[in-house]
Amino acid sequence: MSETSSWGTMMPGTGRALATPPDAPPSPELVTSKHYSREFAALTDTYTGDPIDVSFRQLVGPLPANEYTHGLYPYPARLLRHIPRFLLATDAIVDGIDLVFDPFVGSGTVLLEAQLRGLAAVGVEQNPVAALASRVKVLGAVPDNILTTLTRVLDEARRTRRKLVPSTALERWYSAGAFSALARLASQVAAGAPEDRDLLALCLALTARRVARTDPRIPVPVTSERNATATSADVWKAWASEAEAIARKLGSLPPSRPEAHVIQGDARNSAVWPNAEQAQSTLLLSSPPYGAAQKYVRSTSLEAGWLGFAPHGRTIHIEHDSIGREHLSAADKTVKLTQVWSDELRADLALIAAKDHRRAAIYVTYFTDMQNVFQNARARSVKRIALVTGTNNVVGGTLHTSQHLAAIVRALGYRHTISLRDPIRGRSLLTARRNGTPSPSEYIDVFEVPDGA
Ligand SMILES: C[S@@+](CC[C@H](N)C(=O)[O-])C[C@H]1O[C@@H](n2cnc3c(N)ncnc32)[C@H](O)[C@@H]1O
Repeated sequence: MSETSSWGTMMPGTGRALATPPDAPPSPELVTSKHYSREFAALTDTYTGDPIDVSFRQLVGPLPANEYTHGLYPYPARLLRHIPRFLLATDAIVDGIDLVFDPFVGSGTVLLEAQLRGLAAVGVEQNPVAALASRVKVLGAVPDNILTTLTRVLDEARRTRRKLVPSTALERWYSAGAFSALARLASQVAAGAPEDRDLLALCLALTARRVARTDPRIPVPVTSERNATATSADVWKAWASEAEAIARKLGSLPPSRPEAHVIQGDARNSAVWPNAEQAQSTLLLSSPPYGAAQKYVRSTSLEAGWLGFAPHGRTIHIEHDSIGREHLSAADKTVKLTQVWSDELRADLALIAAKDHRRAAIYVTYFTDMQNVFQNARARSVKRIALVTGTNNVVGGTLHTSQHLAAIVRALGYRHTISLRDPIRGRSLLTARRNGTPSPSEYIDVFEVPDGA
């Protein structure tokens, strides 16, 4: 099944699309009422170079569960939305900004928060399932007949005998009845009108997740007794319920929002970045991948299968372009510490290499990939950067990933204006493991492009 995207205006010289900055100021209903400029200024005043402990949950206060389209799709490692909510309501962060750029979109938390603040947003995401979920999350014009469209597809699937099985590897994850019903739905989704394709694909992905014989408590598919005897009727019920939830959530979005676009691509590729002119008023706000032990691709492998992104059940081609991957190619398995810019990072990686060569190679690859990403920011002189990162426990020690990433950004000439640490872990991060488990703190680092750049 091919991917569909709704592009905005084309970005000059790249053939890529970028959102058009809003012509008119955002309508008041868009803007969440609170501003945090005073709180942020107080933090900046006390900043001496060491991270300041804050609780974004306390600063922002309770937010309704799954408001708007947050929670539309259960992606792992979602960003605590209090963080972009706070930052985007802070003058020091949004002054002079008319585009928010997230090179690691995930399920689209930052893009939606930017829209809610009246800021146009563009993001890049390499995992096609996450890219799909975030495209729907920030849909521009929400059609008012979503439920009718999704219900019609369900009715047609119930009537048809046509089946589409994008990958036979999916079969073992479903009862016979559920598998057959999903294949009927998949054939109707593939035949859907192009303008409905994302909505239909998302409903199929959510339904396939819900009726799988997997343990819902574990983000990656692990066989369980759940749904072992699911029938086609259970699948129709699941689709109807997901359809209702999608329509309700999309219906709750404020009617007029600036555009947001998701580019399915690789953040290392400079062609997907804002051009130099746009970059002058761009805020890069992102929670990048965490180094290792991340299973974004595996956590979406069943959905990827049903949507045609994983022929023969294989997702290795998706994983190959992921930053922070576990499986390295033969070339990447050689530890080339010379590729790493900072002396401190090289020293830390040498210590890891002495204990576990493969693990060190994974981190060398990760940091070189992230260097490439930040080089794109510097090449375009992106005005401001706000990163939400963490640390990793590696071979019995702590790798200060956030500090090393900050050092890379500083080495590119950016001024580090503040570092905050939220000890309450915001992301529901994946399975714990000995090598690579992220520690339970988020670091929020803000950088400013050098004057005259
Ligand atoms: C920490 S998650 C972002 C979570 C997001 N803030 C949210 O709230 O859902 C990092 C994301 O980076 C994506 N990613 C990994 N490598 C990438 C690459 N080379 N280019 C773009 N995205 C990539 C992963 O697929 C993952 O979705």
